Amino acid sequence: MIRVKSGVQGLDELIEGGFPESSSVLVSGGAGCGKSIFCLEYLYNGAKLYNEPGVYITLEEGPHNLWWNMQRFKWDFLPLERANKLKIFKFEPDLATRDNVEEQAKRIAEKAKDMGAKRLVIDSITALSFWVDDISKIRYAMYLLVEELRKLNCTTLLTCETIGDKMELSRFGVEEFLADGIVLLHFRPPHRFIFIRKMRGTSHSKAIHPFDITNDGLIVNPREEVSWDAATLGYGIYMKGQQSENRD
Ligand SMILES: Nc1ncnc2c1ncn2[C@@H]1O[C@H](COP(=O)(O)OP(=O)(O)OP(=O)(O)O)[C@@H](O)[C@H]1O
Ligand SMILES: [Mg+2]
Repeated sequence: MIRVKSGVQGLDELIEGGFPESSSVLVSGGAGCGKSIFCLEYLYNGAKLYNEPGVYITLEEGPHNLWWNMQRFKWDFLPLERANKLKIFKFEPDLATRDNVEEQAKRIAEKAKDMGAKRLVIDSITALSFWVDDISKIRYAMYLLVEELRKLNCTTLLTCETIGDKMELSRFGVEEFLADGIVLLHFRPPHRFIFIRKMRGTSHSKAIHPFDITNDGLIVNPREEVSWDAATLGYGIYMKGQQSENRD
C-alpha cells in the first residue's frame, strides 16, 4: 500500500508512515480543537516538502482565517499558490441544488481535478450536510461524496464538527462508517489530545497521544500516552513514556 505522508509533525509513526493513498479520512473534534490547522499542515507540507498539489475547500470559515494561521506559523503560502501547488476556495453551495450533496461533491471534485491535486481538504462535511434534512439522506449523501472522492485518486481529509466533551466520533453518527480513517482531536484545556480511532489497512497506535499547537504549527508527541480518563474526564494526567521516565 502506498502511504501519503501526513506532513503533520509526529503523526506518521502512529499510522505506519502516512495515510493510505486515495483514502478519505475524517478529522473530528469540537470547536477550536485544531481541525483546520491539522488540515492546513497536511496541505502546506504536502506541497512544500513532498511536491504534492493540494486544494482546501472551506465551507464556513473565511479563507482569511486560514491565511492568518499560515502567516502566524510563517508558512509562505503565496509561492505555492502561484505555482498552482496550494489553493484555498471558499465554497458557496448553489442555492437551488444545495441539498443535493452529490451535485456539490461533483463541483468540489472539479476543483481538485482542475489543478491535478493529490491532496484535498473539505472543511467541513458537517456544514455540507446541514442542508440535507434527515439522517438517512445524510448517510446516502456521505456515501455519494466518498465514492465521488475515491474516483479522484486524491487523499482527502474531511473535517467533522462534534459537540459534547467525550471524544465523539462525528456529528450525525453516520460519517464514521463511510470514511476509511478517523482521527479524533480533543481539547481539554490546557491539554490537547489525538486518537486514531480507525485507519483501514493500517496497524495504527491504539493510544491517546498529546499534541500541541505552537508557533511552528501542530505537533503530535508520539512517544507520550494519556489514559482515556485523563483525556475525557480530566483526571490526573497519566503519562507513559519519556516524561514519566524522567520523573521517576
Ligand atoms: N499560534 C498559535 N499558538 C498556539 N495556539 C494556537 C495558535 N493558533 C491557533 N491556536 C489554537 O488553535 C485554535 C484554533 O484551531 P483551529 O482553527 O484549527 O480549530 P478548529 O477545530 O478548526 O475549530 P472550528 O471548529 O471552530 O473550526 C485556537 O482557538 C487556539 O486555541
Ligand atoms: Mg476550523
